[in-house]
Amino acid sequence: MNALLLFALFSLSIAQNFEDAYSDLESYNLRTIYITENGPKLSVVTDQAKVISRRGGNATLPCRFQRDPAAGPNPKLRIKWTKLTADYLKEVDVFVAMGYHKRSYGRFHGRVHLQGDGDSDASLVINDITLEDYGRYKCEVIDGLEDGTVVISLDLQGVVYPYFPRLGRYNLNFHDAEKACQDQDAVVASFDQLYDAWRGGLDWCNAGWLSDGSVQYPITKPREPCGGKNTVPGVRNYGKRDKDKNRYDVFCFSSNFNGQFYYLIHPGKLTYDEAVQACQRDGAQLAKVGQMYTAWKLLGYDRCDAGWLADGSVRYPISRPRRRCSPDEASVRFSGYPDRKHKLYGAYCFKGHN
Ligand SMILES: *[C@@H]1O[C@H](CO)[C@@H](O)[C@H](O)[C@H]1NC(C)=O
Repeated sequence: MNALLLFALFSLSIAQNFEDAYSDLESYNLRTIYITENGPKLSVVTDQAKVISRRGGNATLPCRFQRDPAAGPNPKLRIKWTKLTADYLKEVDVFVAMGYHKRSYGRFHGRVHLQGDGDSDASLVINDITLEDYGRYKCEVIDGLEDGTVVISLDLQGVVYPYFPRLGRYNLNFHDAEKACQDQDAVVASFDQLYDAWRGGLDWCNAGWLSDGSVQYPITKPREPCGGKNTVPGVRNYGKRDKDKNRYDVFCFSSNFNGQFYYLIHPGKLTYDEAVQACQRDGAQLAKVGQMYTAWKLLGYDRCDAGWLADGSVRYPISRPRRRCSPDEASVRFSGYPDRKHKLYGAYCFKGHN
């Protein structure tokens, strides 16, 4: 009863090749389809294709499997978790379990384990989530010759922001862009993150790198210099660019932080160096751009005072639009990269909690 059923489908087609009019031969196509009577012996499923967490949080990526009940226990059954790279072209090892043998890899070491809710549970728990953990994970169960997989996305709550350094516009190749985001407490945003930000109203007329190596920009109010006035709103795509040679801005992504972001109350305005020292005297550091965006987006931080940030830029976060601050929209206002010796601004500090 367990035997394979074999269907042989003969399809007869007549070759009508007009260039070869002499030959009027018939050609036979034989296609063979194998169907197992009881369906697949191993199935791997998830009840949640997307899990949402935040930096510093925990997440459980659900994955369960079902084996052929007739097959006995398999001590060699393997559960393997990998993560797809941002361009989805490769996989990196996350975790493997075979019986009592368990192993976690790289930056997942010590942060991942199986949930272990019964014999058929392959769900993975990730602790102390980092920005780099964002992405797609593959749960694979290998049971002898049978093999099943399912993909689960780990999404993070957070904020996307466009970034360019003091050097100016369109100065970053892909590797510079990765470093620029890292230096500002962020990572390069994914397309999905930029798309969500666009749906949330982000409009930015400068092209920036995304984590898959493409260069895009989000437009909600179509206009002439941003892809044309009579076009539909959308994320404009330049496609994949040369990661070494091409230079653009970047879209960074940051998520919740474990610490305190604040405007330093200080008598008088400061130069950049004075701002660095003033935060240090307060047991803190000059805040990073990603921290200001995160405080603005996730905590509703609002302060109408331009202040130095670690990259030498001057910005201020407005979540309640008002005259003289940001009249039309809630946004992080950018006052440029002024001369560091100008004694004209305050300081935003960040105090980490560990
Ligand atoms: C994450 O899990 C660890 C270990 O179970 C727990 O101590 C910690 O409180 C959890 N963190 C959060 C944010 O829930």
